[in-house]
Amino acid sequence: ASSVHERIERRRRAAEIGGGLARVEAQHARGKLTARERLLVLLDPGSFVESDMFVEHRCADFGMYSDTNKFPGDSVVTGRGLINGRLAYVFSQDFTVFGGSLSGAHAQKICKVMDQAALVGAPIIGLNDSGGARIQEGVDSLAGYADIFLRNVMSSGVVPQISLIMGPCAGGAVYSPALTDFTFMVKDTSYLFITGPDVVKSVTNEDVSQEQLGGANTHTVTSGVAHRAFENDVDALLNLREFYNFLPLSNRDPAPVRVSHDPSDRLVPGLDTVVPLESSKAYDMLDIIHTTVDEGDFFELMPRYARNLLVGFARLNGRTVGIVGNQPRVASGCLDINASVKGARFVRFCDAFNIPLITFVDVPGFLPGTSQEFGGIIRHGAKLLYAFAEATVPKITVITRKAYGGAYDVMSSKHLRGDVNYAWPTAEVAVMGAKGAVQIIFRGSADQAEAEAEYSEKFANPFPAAVRGFVDDIIRPATTRQRLCRDLDALSTKNLKNPYKKHGNIPL
Ligand code: COA
Repeated sequence: ASSVHERIERRRRAAEIGGGLARVEAQHARGKLTARERLLVLLDPGSFVESDMFVEHRCADFGMYSDTNKFPGDSVVTGRGLINGRLAYVFSQDFTVFGGSLSGAHAQKICKVMDQAALVGAPIIGLNDSGGARIQEGVDSLAGYADIFLRNVMSSGVVPQISLIMGPCAGGAVYSPALTDFTFMVKDTSYLFITGPDVVKSVTNEDVSQEQLGGANTHTVTSGVAHRAFENDVDALLNLREFYNFLPLSNRDPAPVRVSHDPSDRLVPGLDTVVPLESSKAYDMLDIIHTTVDEGDFFELMPRYARNLLVGFARLNGRTVGIVGNQPRVASGCLDINASVKGARFVRFCDAFNIPLITFVDVPGFLPGTSQEFGGIIRHGAKLLYAFAEATVPKITVITRKAYGGAYDVMSSKHLRGDVNYAWPTAEVAVMGAKGAVQIIFRGSADQAEAEAEYSEKFANPFPAAVRGFVDDIIRPATTRQRLCRDLDALSTKNLKNPYKKHGNIPL
Protein backbone atom coordinates (compact mmCIF):
# COMPACT_ATOMS: atom_id res chain seq x y z
CA ALA A 1 0.00 0.00 0.00
CA SER A 2 1.30 3.42 -0.87
CA SER A 3 1.99 5.83 1.93
CA VAL A 4 -0.25 8.76 2.52
CA HIS A 5 2.52 11.07 1.29
CA GLU A 6 2.67 9.27 -2.00
CA ARG A 7 -1.07 9.51 -2.36
CA ILE A 8 -1.00 13.23 -1.64
CA GLU A 9 1.73 13.77 -4.23
CA ARG A 10 -0.01 11.62 -6.81
CA ARG A 11 -3.18 13.63 -6.45
CA ARG A 12 -1.40 16.93 -6.63
CA ARG A 13 0.24 15.84 -9.85
CA ALA A 14 -3.10 14.65 -11.19
CA ALA A 15 -4.65 18.02 -10.35
CA GLU A 16 -1.85 19.78 -12.19
CA ILE A 17 -2.43 17.77 -15.34
CA GLY A 18 -6.18 18.44 -15.27
CA GLY A 19 -8.05 16.57 -17.99
CA GLY A 20 -4.88 14.99 -19.38
CA LEU A 21 -2.31 15.66 -22.04
CA ALA A 22 -4.53 15.12 -25.05
CA ARG A 23 -7.02 17.71 -23.87
CA VAL A 24 -4.23 20.12 -22.94
CA GLU A 25 -2.88 19.79 -26.46
CA ALA A 26 -6.35 20.41 -27.88
CA GLN A 27 -6.55 23.56 -25.77
CA HIS A 28 -3.15 24.74 -27.08
CA ALA A 29 -4.11 23.87 -30.65
CA ARG A 30 -6.92 26.41 -30.35
CA GLY A 31 -4.44 29.07 -29.29
CA LYS A 32 -5.64 28.90 -25.69
CA LEU A 33 -3.57 28.47 -22.54
CA THR A 34 -4.64 26.08 -19.81
CA ALA A 35 -6.25 27.27 -16.59
CA ARG A 36 -2.95 26.99 -14.70
CA GLU A 37 -0.83 28.56 -17.42
CA ARG A 38 -3.18 31.54 -17.38
CA LEU A 39 -2.68 32.02 -13.65
CA LEU A 40 1.09 31.90 -14.17
CA VAL A 41 0.83 34.82 -16.61
CA LEU A 42 -1.67 36.79 -14.51
CA LEU A 43 -0.01 36.51 -11.10
CA ASP A 44 3.43 37.55 -9.86
CA PRO A 45 5.90 34.64 -10.10
CA GLY A 46 5.62 32.24 -7.19
CA SER A 47 2.74 34.14 -5.59
CA PHE A 48 -0.13 31.73 -6.34
CA VAL A 49 -1.54 30.00 -3.28
CA GLU A 50 -3.99 27.33 -4.35
CA SER A 51 -6.96 26.11 -2.40
CA ASP A 52 -9.16 23.04 -2.82
CA MET A 53 -6.78 21.08 -5.01
CA PHE A 54 -8.28 17.83 -3.71
CA VAL A 55 -11.93 18.68 -4.17
CA GLU A 56 -13.82 16.23 -6.40
CA HIS A 57 -17.25 16.31 -7.92
CA ARG A 58 -19.92 14.32 -6.08
CA CYS A 59 -22.02 13.09 -8.97
CA ALA A 60 -22.91 9.41 -8.94
CA ASP A 61 -25.07 9.28 -12.06
CA PHE A 62 -24.09 8.45 -15.63
CA GLY A 63 -21.01 6.54 -14.51
CA MET A 64 -19.49 9.69 -13.07
CA TYR A 65 -18.43 7.94 -9.85
CA SER A 66 -15.77 5.84 -11.57
CA ASP A 67 -12.15 6.80 -10.86
CA THR A 68 -11.54 7.68 -14.49
CA ASN A 69 -14.25 10.33 -14.23
CA LYS A 70 -12.74 11.94 -11.13
CA PHE A 71 -10.21 14.73 -11.41
CA PRO A 72 -8.65 16.21 -8.25
CA GLY A 73 -9.65 19.84 -8.11
CA ASP A 74 -12.46 19.17 -10.60
CA SER A 75 -12.87 21.69 -13.42
CA VAL A 76 -11.66 24.91 -11.80
CA VAL A 77 -8.41 26.14 -10.22
CA THR A 78 -8.91 28.57 -7.32
CA GLY A 79 -6.83 30.53 -4.84
CA ARG A 80 -5.12 33.83 -4.33
CA GLY A 81 -1.99 35.56 -5.54
CA LEU A 82 -0.36 38.90 -6.13
CA ILE A 83 -0.54 41.26 -9.10
CA ASN A 84 2.35 43.70 -8.96
CA GLY A 85 2.53 42.95 -5.25
CA ARG A 86 -1.18 43.52 -4.57
CA LEU A 87 -3.51 40.77 -3.38
CA ALA A 88 -6.12 39.24 -5.70
CA TYR A 89 -8.44 36.26 -5.37
CA VAL A 90 -8.79 34.21 -8.54
CA PHE A 91 -10.56 31.34 -10.15
CA SER A 92 -9.65 29.86 -13.49
CA GLN A 93 -11.98 27.38 -15.16
CA ASP A 94 -10.28 24.32 -16.61
CA PHE A 95 -11.74 23.43 -20.00
CA THR A 96 -9.76 20.18 -20.07
CA VAL A 97 -11.95 18.72 -17.30
CA PHE A 98 -15.51 18.14 -18.56
CA GLY A 99 -15.21 21.22 -20.71
CA GLY A 100 -14.78 23.42 -17.63
CA SER A 101 -18.43 22.72 -16.85
CA LEU A 102 -19.80 23.85 -13.52
CA SER A 103 -20.46 21.08 -11.02
CA GLY A 104 -21.70 21.64 -7.49
CA ALA A 105 -18.12 21.21 -6.27
CA HIS A 106 -16.79 23.64 -8.89
CA ALA A 107 -19.29 26.28 -7.72
CA GLN A 108 -18.43 25.62 -4.09
CA LYS A 109 -14.74 26.27 -4.83
CA ILE A 110 -15.56 29.56 -6.54
CA CYS A 111 -17.85 30.62 -3.69
CA LYS A 112 -15.09 29.94 -1.19
CA VAL A 113 -12.64 32.34 -2.85
CA MET A 114 -15.38 34.91 -3.41
CA ASP A 115 -16.22 34.80 0.29
CA GLN A 116 -12.57 35.18 1.23
CA ALA A 117 -12.16 38.12 -1.15
CA ALA A 118 -15.09 39.93 0.42
CA LEU A 119 -13.93 39.16 3.97
CA VAL A 120 -10.38 40.31 3.38
CA GLY A 121 -11.29 43.18 1.08
CA ALA A 122 -9.53 42.18 -2.13
CA PRO A 123 -10.80 41.96 -5.72
CA ILE A 124 -11.98 38.74 -7.29
CA ILE A 125 -10.91 37.85 -10.82
CA GLY A 126 -12.61 35.08 -12.79
CA LEU A 127 -11.05 33.50 -15.86
CA ASN A 128 -14.03 31.96 -17.64
CA ASP A 129 -13.71 28.99 -20.00
CA SER A 130 -16.64 26.66 -19.52
CA GLY A 131 -19.25 24.59 -21.33
CA GLY A 132 -21.82 25.74 -18.78
CA ALA A 133 -23.81 23.73 -16.29
CA ARG A 134 -22.41 20.19 -15.66
CA ILE A 135 -25.14 18.37 -17.51
CA GLN A 136 -24.72 15.18 -15.45
CA GLU A 137 -25.43 17.08 -12.21
CA GLY A 138 -28.63 18.83 -13.19
CA VAL A 139 -30.10 21.03 -10.53
CA ASP A 140 -26.97 20.89 -8.32
CA SER A 141 -25.24 22.82 -11.01
CA LEU A 142 -28.01 25.39 -11.27
CA ALA A 143 -27.89 25.85 -7.51
CA GLY A 144 -24.15 26.43 -7.89
CA TYR A 145 -24.69 29.25 -10.36
CA ALA A 146 -27.19 30.94 -8.09
CA ASP A 147 -24.77 30.69 -5.17
CA ILE A 148 -22.20 32.53 -7.29
CA PHE A 149 -24.70 35.15 -8.52
CA LEU A 150 -25.75 35.93 -4.98
CA ARG A 151 -22.12 36.52 -4.03
CA ASN A 152 -21.58 38.67 -7.12
CA VAL A 153 -24.44 40.87 -5.96
CA MET A 154 -23.37 40.98 -2.31
CA SER A 155 -19.80 41.88 -3.31
CA SER A 156 -20.94 44.56 -5.75
CA GLY A 157 -19.53 47.87 -4.51
CA VAL A 158 -17.52 46.05 -1.82
CA VAL A 159 -14.61 44.61 -3.81
CA PRO A 160 -13.92 45.10 -7.52
CA GLN A 161 -14.99 42.07 -9.57
CA ILE A 162 -13.44 41.35 -12.95
CA SER A 163 -14.32 38.69 -15.52
CA LEU A 164 -12.06 37.66 -18.35
CA ILE A 165 -13.84 35.47 -20.90
CA MET A 166 -11.33 33.10 -22.45
CA GLY A 167 -13.54 30.44 -24.02
CA PRO A 168 -17.22 29.54 -24.10
CA CYS A 169 -19.56 31.15 -21.60
CA ALA A 170 -23.18 30.39 -22.38
CA GLY A 171 -26.60 30.07 -20.83
CA GLY A 172 -26.91 30.91 -17.15
CA ALA A 173 -23.13 31.14 -16.94
CA VAL A 174 -23.20 34.57 -18.57
CA TYR A 175 -24.87 36.21 -15.60
CA SER A 176 -21.89 36.03 -13.32
CA PRO A 177 -19.70 38.05 -15.72
CA ALA A 178 -22.64 40.36 -16.36
CA LEU A 179 -22.88 41.12 -12.64
CA THR A 180 -19.17 41.85 -12.28
CA ASP A 181 -17.78 45.35 -12.72
CA PHE A 182 -15.69 44.65 -15.80
CA THR A 183 -15.88 42.01 -18.51
CA PHE A 184 -12.97 41.51 -20.87
CA MET A 185 -12.83 39.09 -23.79
CA VAL A 186 -10.24 37.34 -25.94
CA LYS A 187 -10.74 37.82 -29.68
CA ASP A 188 -11.72 34.77 -31.76
CA THR A 189 -11.63 32.24 -28.90
CA SER A 190 -14.27 33.54 -26.51
CA TYR A 191 -17.98 34.04 -26.73
CA LEU A 192 -20.90 34.93 -24.50
CA PHE A 193 -24.52 34.22 -25.26
CA ILE A 194 -27.75 33.23 -23.56
CA THR A 195 -28.58 30.60 -26.17
CA GLY A 196 -26.25 29.26 -28.86
CA PRO A 197 -26.67 29.36 -32.65
CA ASP A 198 -28.58 26.05 -32.81
CA VAL A 199 -31.27 27.18 -30.38
CA VAL A 200 -31.47 30.56 -32.11
CA LYS A 201 -32.01 28.78 -35.41
CA SER A 202 -34.81 26.62 -34.06
CA VAL A 203 -36.61 29.47 -32.27
CA THR A 204 -36.19 32.49 -34.54
CA ASN A 205 -34.96 30.78 -37.70
CA GLU A 206 -31.92 33.08 -37.81
CA ASP A 207 -28.63 31.77 -39.18
CA VAL A 208 -25.85 33.15 -37.06
CA SER A 209 -22.36 31.95 -36.16
CA GLN A 210 -21.03 31.76 -32.62
CA GLU A 211 -18.71 34.63 -33.39
CA GLN A 212 -21.47 36.84 -34.79
CA LEU A 213 -23.82 36.01 -31.96
CA GLY A 214 -21.51 36.48 -29.03
CA GLY A 215 -17.88 37.01 -30.03
CA ALA A 216 -15.62 39.78 -28.79
CA ASN A 217 -16.51 42.08 -31.66
CA THR A 218 -20.23 41.79 -31.03
CA HIS A 219 -19.94 42.53 -27.34
CA THR A 220 -17.44 45.38 -27.55
CA VAL A 221 -19.06 47.16 -30.51
CA THR A 222 -22.77 46.31 -30.63
CA SER A 223 -24.12 45.06 -27.30
CA GLY A 224 -21.85 46.84 -24.83
CA VAL A 225 -21.71 43.68 -22.72
CA ALA A 226 -17.90 43.61 -22.65
CA HIS A 227 -15.51 46.44 -21.83
CA ARG A 228 -12.46 45.50 -23.88
CA ALA A 229 -11.26 42.77 -26.24
CA PHE A 230 -7.68 41.55 -26.49
CA GLU A 231 -5.70 39.70 -29.14
CA ASN A 232 -4.96 36.44 -27.32
CA ASP A 233 -4.70 34.93 -23.85
CA VAL A 234 -1.30 36.43 -23.01
CA ASP A 235 -2.25 39.89 -24.30
CA ALA A 236 -5.47 39.79 -22.26
CA LEU A 237 -3.78 38.67 -19.05
CA LEU A 238 -0.98 41.23 -19.32
CA ASN A 239 -3.53 43.98 -19.94
CA LEU A 240 -5.47 42.78 -16.95
CA ARG A 241 -2.33 43.22 -14.84
CA GLU A 242 -2.02 46.82 -16.08
CA PHE A 243 -5.68 47.45 -15.44
CA TYR A 244 -5.43 46.04 -11.92
CA ASN A 245 -2.91 48.72 -10.96
CA PHE A 246 -5.61 51.38 -11.27
CA LEU A 247 -8.05 49.73 -8.89
CA PRO A 248 -8.37 50.01 -5.14
CA LEU A 249 -8.57 46.64 -3.39
CA SER A 250 -11.94 47.38 -1.83
CA ASN A 251 -14.43 50.11 -0.95
CA ARG A 252 -12.52 50.65 2.30
CA ASP A 253 -9.31 51.33 0.42
CA PRO A 254 -8.33 54.71 -1.01
CA ALA A 255 -7.55 54.61 -4.72
CA PRO A 256 -3.94 53.52 -5.16
CA VAL A 257 -1.21 56.11 -5.61
CA ARG A 258 1.76 55.22 -7.78
CA VAL A 259 4.97 57.22 -7.91
CA SER A 260 4.78 59.35 -11.04
CA HIS A 261 7.72 60.69 -12.98
CA ASP A 262 5.46 63.13 -14.78
CA PRO A 263 5.68 66.52 -12.99
CA SER A 264 2.33 67.56 -11.56
CA ASP A 265 3.00 71.18 -12.54
CA ARG A 266 3.73 70.32 -16.19
CA LEU A 267 2.17 72.82 -18.57
CA VAL A 268 0.49 71.50 -21.71
CA PRO A 269 0.81 74.39 -24.21
CA GLY A 270 -0.82 72.34 -26.98
CA LEU A 271 -4.13 72.58 -25.16
CA ASP A 272 -4.28 76.33 -25.76
CA THR A 273 -5.02 75.68 -29.43
CA VAL A 274 -6.65 72.24 -29.42
CA VAL A 275 -10.22 73.56 -29.64
CA PRO A 276 -10.90 74.88 -33.16
CA LEU A 277 -12.04 78.48 -33.52
CA GLU A 278 -15.04 77.38 -35.52
CA SER A 279 -17.45 76.04 -32.96
CA SER A 280 -18.94 73.37 -35.23
CA LYS A 281 -15.55 71.81 -36.04
CA ALA A 282 -14.57 68.55 -34.39
CA TYR A 283 -11.40 67.74 -32.46
CA ASP A 284 -10.28 64.67 -30.57
CA MET A 285 -11.04 64.73 -26.84
CA LEU A 286 -8.58 61.83 -26.48
CA ASP A 287 -5.77 64.27 -27.31
CA ILE A 288 -6.78 66.38 -24.33
CA ILE A 289 -6.98 63.37 -22.03
CA HIS A 290 -3.68 61.84 -23.16
CA THR A 291 -1.69 65.05 -22.82
CA THR A 292 -3.22 65.90 -19.45
CA VAL A 293 -2.83 62.65 -17.49
CA ASP A 294 0.36 61.13 -16.08
CA GLU A 295 2.65 59.78 -18.79
CA GLY A 296 -0.18 59.78 -21.31
CA ASP A 297 -1.41 56.56 -19.75
CA PHE A 298 -5.19 56.26 -20.25
CA PHE A 299 -6.82 52.83 -19.87
CA GLU A 300 -9.91 53.36 -21.95
CA LEU A 301 -12.99 51.20 -21.34
CA MET A 302 -15.56 50.38 -24.01
CA PRO A 303 -13.51 52.24 -26.66
CA ARG A 304 -15.63 50.94 -29.53
CA TYR A 305 -19.07 51.25 -27.96
CA ALA A 306 -20.94 54.58 -27.71
CA ARG A 307 -17.83 56.33 -28.92
CA ASN A 308 -19.47 59.72 -28.38
CA LEU A 309 -18.56 59.35 -24.70
CA LEU A 310 -15.10 58.40 -23.44
CA VAL A 311 -14.59 56.63 -20.12
CA GLY A 312 -11.53 55.07 -18.52
CA PHE A 313 -8.87 55.23 -15.85
CA ALA A 314 -5.77 57.37 -15.69
CA ARG A 315 -3.58 58.95 -13.01
CA LEU A 316 -2.95 62.52 -11.95
CA ASN A 317 0.08 63.07 -9.73
CA GLY A 318 0.13 59.29 -9.29
CA ARG A 319 -3.44 59.05 -8.04
CA THR A 320 -6.04 56.97 -9.91
CA VAL A 321 -8.85 59.02 -11.44
CA GLY A 322 -11.88 58.07 -13.50
CA ILE A 323 -12.15 60.12 -16.66
CA VAL A 324 -15.40 60.87 -18.46
CA GLY A 325 -15.34 62.96 -21.61
CA ASN A 326 -17.65 63.88 -24.46
CA GLN A 327 -16.07 63.04 -27.80
CA PRO A 328 -16.81 65.82 -30.34
CA ARG A 329 -15.50 63.58 -33.14
CA VAL A 330 -18.46 61.20 -32.85
CA ALA A 331 -22.01 62.56 -33.24
CA SER A 332 -20.64 65.94 -32.15
CA GLY A 333 -20.32 64.51 -28.65
CA CYS A 334 -24.10 64.29 -28.17
CA LEU A 335 -25.33 62.12 -25.33
CA ASP A 336 -27.51 59.22 -26.44
CA ILE A 337 -28.94 56.11 -24.78
CA ASN A 338 -25.83 53.98 -25.05
CA ALA A 339 -23.48 56.75 -23.97
CA SER A 340 -25.64 57.53 -20.96
CA VAL A 341 -25.68 53.93 -19.78
CA LYS A 342 -21.96 53.53 -20.45
CA GLY A 343 -21.15 56.68 -18.50
CA ALA A 344 -23.53 55.98 -15.63
CA ARG A 345 -22.12 52.54 -14.87
CA PHE A 346 -18.56 53.88 -14.95
CA VAL A 347 -19.35 56.83 -12.68
CA ARG A 348 -21.03 54.51 -10.19
CA PHE A 349 -18.01 52.19 -10.12
CA CYS A 350 -15.73 55.14 -9.40
CA ASP A 351 -18.01 56.45 -6.70
CA ALA A 352 -18.35 53.03 -5.05
CA PHE A 353 -14.57 52.66 -4.93
CA ASN A 354 -13.44 56.16 -3.93
CA ILE A 355 -11.98 57.07 -7.30
CA PRO A 356 -12.18 60.84 -8.07
CA LEU A 357 -13.99 61.81 -11.26
CA ILE A 358 -12.57 64.16 -13.87
CA THR A 359 -15.14 65.19 -16.49
CA PHE A 360 -14.28 66.92 -19.77
CA VAL A 361 -17.35 68.54 -21.27
CA ASP A 362 -18.10 69.42 -24.87
CA VAL A 363 -21.72 68.46 -25.32
CA PRO A 364 -24.28 70.03 -27.68
CA GLY A 365 -27.13 68.18 -25.94
CA PHE A 366 -28.97 64.89 -26.09
CA LEU A 367 -29.29 63.24 -29.49
CA PRO A 368 -32.70 64.06 -31.06
CA GLY A 369 -34.85 61.56 -32.95
CA THR A 370 -37.57 58.94 -32.74
CA SER A 371 -35.18 56.06 -32.22
CA GLN A 372 -33.79 57.76 -29.15
CA GLU A 373 -37.16 58.85 -27.77
CA PHE A 374 -38.80 55.48 -28.46
CA GLY A 375 -35.79 53.75 -26.94
CA GLY A 376 -36.28 55.68 -23.73
CA ILE A 377 -33.55 58.32 -23.79
CA ILE A 378 -35.41 60.07 -20.99
CA ARG A 379 -35.07 57.07 -18.70
CA HIS A 380 -31.52 56.24 -19.78
CA GLY A 381 -30.23 59.79 -19.77
CA ALA A 382 -31.54 60.03 -16.22
CA LYS A 383 -29.11 57.26 -15.24
CA LEU A 384 -26.10 59.41 -16.01
CA LEU A 385 -27.66 62.37 -14.25
CA TYR A 386 -28.42 60.21 -11.22
CA ALA A 387 -24.93 58.74 -11.15
CA PHE A 388 -23.16 62.09 -11.21
CA ALA A 389 -25.57 63.58 -8.70
CA GLU A 390 -25.24 60.83 -6.10
CA ALA A 391 -21.45 60.55 -6.43
CA THR A 392 -19.65 61.77 -3.31
CA VAL A 393 -16.07 61.32 -4.54
CA PRO A 394 -14.06 64.42 -5.55
CA LYS A 395 -15.55 65.73 -8.80
CA ILE A 396 -13.70 68.12 -11.08
CA THR A 397 -15.18 69.30 -14.37
CA VAL A 398 -13.55 71.07 -17.29
CA ILE A 399 -15.82 72.63 -19.93
CA THR A 400 -13.71 72.80 -23.06
CA ARG A 401 -16.40 74.11 -25.38
CA LYS A 402 -20.13 73.43 -25.52
CA ALA A 403 -22.18 72.76 -22.45
CA TYR A 404 -25.69 73.07 -23.77
CA GLY A 405 -29.07 72.45 -22.28
CA GLY A 406 -29.91 69.60 -19.93
CA ALA A 407 -26.69 67.88 -20.94
CA TYR A 408 -24.79 70.76 -19.28
CA ASP A 409 -26.54 69.95 -16.01
CA VAL A 410 -25.88 66.24 -16.37
CA MET A 411 -22.15 66.41 -17.06
CA SER A 412 -20.98 66.81 -13.46
CA SER A 413 -22.13 70.41 -13.26
CA LYS A 414 -21.69 72.62 -10.21
CA HIS A 415 -25.36 72.08 -9.44
CA LEU A 416 -24.79 68.33 -8.98
CA ARG A 417 -22.15 69.05 -6.33
CA GLY A 418 -19.17 69.44 -8.61
CA ASP A 419 -16.27 70.41 -6.34
CA VAL A 420 -14.27 72.37 -8.87
CA ASN A 421 -15.73 73.38 -12.23
CA TYR A 422 -13.56 75.09 -14.82
CA ALA A 423 -14.29 76.68 -18.15
CA TRP A 424 -11.76 77.15 -20.88
CA PRO A 425 -11.97 80.50 -22.72
CA THR A 426 -13.65 78.61 -25.58
CA ALA A 427 -16.50 77.43 -23.32
CA GLU A 428 -20.12 78.19 -24.21
CA VAL A 429 -22.60 77.43 -21.47
CA ALA A 430 -26.06 78.01 -22.89
CA VAL A 431 -29.47 76.53 -23.42
CA MET A 432 -28.57 75.77 -27.03
CA GLY A 433 -26.44 76.97 -29.94
CA ALA A 434 -26.99 80.45 -31.36
CA LYS A 435 -28.61 79.30 -34.59
CA GLY A 436 -31.28 77.15 -32.93
CA ALA A 437 -31.92 79.72 -30.25
CA VAL A 438 -32.46 82.54 -32.70
CA GLN A 439 -34.80 80.45 -34.84
CA ILE A 440 -37.02 80.03 -31.81
CA ILE A 441 -36.94 83.39 -30.08
CA PHE A 442 -36.72 85.57 -33.20
CA ARG A 443 -38.93 83.46 -35.45
CA GLY A 444 -39.75 85.28 -38.68
CA SER A 445 -37.56 88.23 -37.80
CA ALA A 446 -35.79 89.78 -40.79
CA ASP A 447 -32.30 90.00 -39.45
CA GLN A 448 -31.40 86.53 -38.27
CA ALA A 449 -27.67 87.14 -38.64
CA GLU A 450 -27.75 90.13 -36.35
CA ALA A 451 -29.82 88.25 -33.78
CA GLU A 452 -27.38 85.34 -33.88
CA ALA A 453 -24.47 87.65 -33.32
CA GLU A 454 -26.24 89.20 -30.36
CA TYR A 455 -27.04 85.79 -28.88
CA SER A 456 -23.46 84.60 -29.34
CA GLU A 457 -22.09 87.76 -27.79
CA LYS A 458 -24.33 87.20 -24.79
CA PHE A 459 -24.19 83.44 -24.31
CA ALA A 460 -21.54 81.73 -26.46
CA ASN A 461 -18.78 82.36 -23.94
CA PRO A 462 -17.89 81.34 -20.39
CA PHE A 463 -19.05 84.55 -18.68
CA PRO A 464 -22.75 83.86 -18.06
CA ALA A 465 -21.74 80.78 -16.06
CA ALA A 466 -18.72 82.43 -14.44
CA VAL A 467 -20.56 85.52 -13.19
CA ARG A 468 -23.03 83.26 -11.42
CA GLY A 469 -20.34 81.09 -9.85
CA PHE A 470 -21.47 78.05 -11.85
CA VAL A 471 -17.86 77.68 -12.91
CA ASP A 472 -15.19 78.49 -10.38
CA ASP A 473 -12.71 79.93 -12.83
CA ILE A 474 -11.93 80.46 -16.48
CA ILE A 475 -8.52 78.90 -16.95
CA ARG A 476 -5.81 78.86 -19.57
CA PRO A 477 -6.06 75.35 -21.07
CA ALA A 478 -2.29 74.79 -20.75
CA THR A 479 -2.63 74.94 -16.97
CA THR A 480 -5.35 72.30 -16.75
CA ARG A 481 -3.07 69.49 -15.57
CA GLN A 482 -1.51 71.68 -12.87
CA ARG A 483 -4.92 72.72 -11.65
CA LEU A 484 -6.35 69.21 -11.56
CA CYS A 485 -3.35 67.85 -9.65
CA ARG A 486 -3.50 70.62 -7.06
CA ASP A 487 -7.26 70.34 -6.66
CA LEU A 488 -7.06 66.58 -6.15
CA ASP A 489 -4.58 67.15 -3.34
CA ALA A 490 -6.97 69.58 -1.67
CA LEU A 491 -9.93 67.27 -2.21
CA SER A 492 -8.21 64.13 -0.95
CA THR A 493 -9.85 64.58 2.46
CA LYS A 494 -13.28 65.38 1.06
CA ASN A 495 -15.97 63.93 3.30
CA LEU A 496 -19.50 63.86 1.99
CA LYS A 497 -22.32 61.48 2.82
CA ASN A 498 -25.72 61.10 1.22
CA PRO A 499 -28.81 60.82 3.43
CA TYR A 500 -29.52 57.40 4.94
CA LYS A 501 -31.48 55.13 2.66
CA LYS A 502 -31.82 51.40 2.15
CA HIS A 503 -30.79 52.07 -1.40
CA GLY A 504 -31.71 54.62 -4.02
CA ASN A 505 -33.95 53.88 -6.96
CA ILE A 506 -31.84 54.73 -10.00
CA PRO A 507 -34.07 54.76 -13.11
CA LEU A 508 -33.20 51.38 -14.59
N1 COA B 1 -21.43 19.27 -18.95
C1 COA B 1 -20.62 18.20 -18.94
N2 COA B 1 -19.63 18.01 -19.81
C2 COA B 1 -19.42 18.94 -20.74
C3 COA B 1 -20.22 20.09 -20.83
C4 COA B 1 -21.25 20.23 -19.91
N3 COA B 1 -22.02 21.31 -19.91
N4 COA B 1 -19.78 20.83 -21.85
C5 COA B 1 -18.74 20.19 -22.37
N5 COA B 1 -18.52 19.03 -21.71
C6 COA B 1 -17.47 18.05 -21.99
C7 COA B 1 -17.69 17.30 -23.26
O1 COA B 1 -18.48 16.18 -23.00
C8 COA B 1 -16.29 16.94 -23.66
O2 COA B 1 -15.88 15.85 -22.88
P1 COA B 1 -14.72 14.86 -23.38
O3 COA B 1 -13.48 15.67 -23.45
O4 COA B 1 -14.68 13.82 -22.33
O5 COA B 1 -15.16 14.36 -24.72
C9 COA B 1 -15.48 18.12 -23.20
O6 COA B 1 -16.28 18.76 -22.20
C10 COA B 1 -15.18 19.12 -24.27
O7 COA B 1 -16.39 19.45 -24.95
P2 COA B 1 -16.50 19.45 -26.52
O8 COA B 1 -17.94 19.51 -26.86
O9 COA B 1 -15.70 18.35 -27.11
O10 COA B 1 -15.78 20.83 -26.83
P3 COA B 1 -16.08 21.86 -28.00
O11 COA B 1 -15.04 22.87 -27.90
O12 COA B 1 -16.29 21.14 -29.28
O13 COA B 1 -17.49 22.51 -27.60
C11 COA B 1 -19.07 23.60 -26.17
C12 COA B 1 -17.60 23.31 -26.46
C13 COA B 1 -19.14 24.34 -24.85
C14 COA B 1 -19.66 24.47 -27.27
C15 COA B 1 -19.86 22.31 -26.11
O14 COA B 1 -19.19 21.41 -25.25
C16 COA B 1 -21.27 22.46 -25.61
O15 COA B 1 -22.17 22.86 -26.34
N6 COA B 1 -21.50 22.10 -24.33
C17 COA B 1 -22.81 22.17 -23.72
C18 COA B 1 -23.22 23.59 -23.44
C19 COA B 1 -24.52 23.61 -22.70
O16 COA B 1 -25.58 23.50 -23.28
N7 COA B 1 -24.43 23.73 -21.36
C20 COA B 1 -25.53 23.62 -20.50
C21 COA B 1 -26.34 24.88 -20.42
S1 COA B 1 -25.68 26.12 -19.34
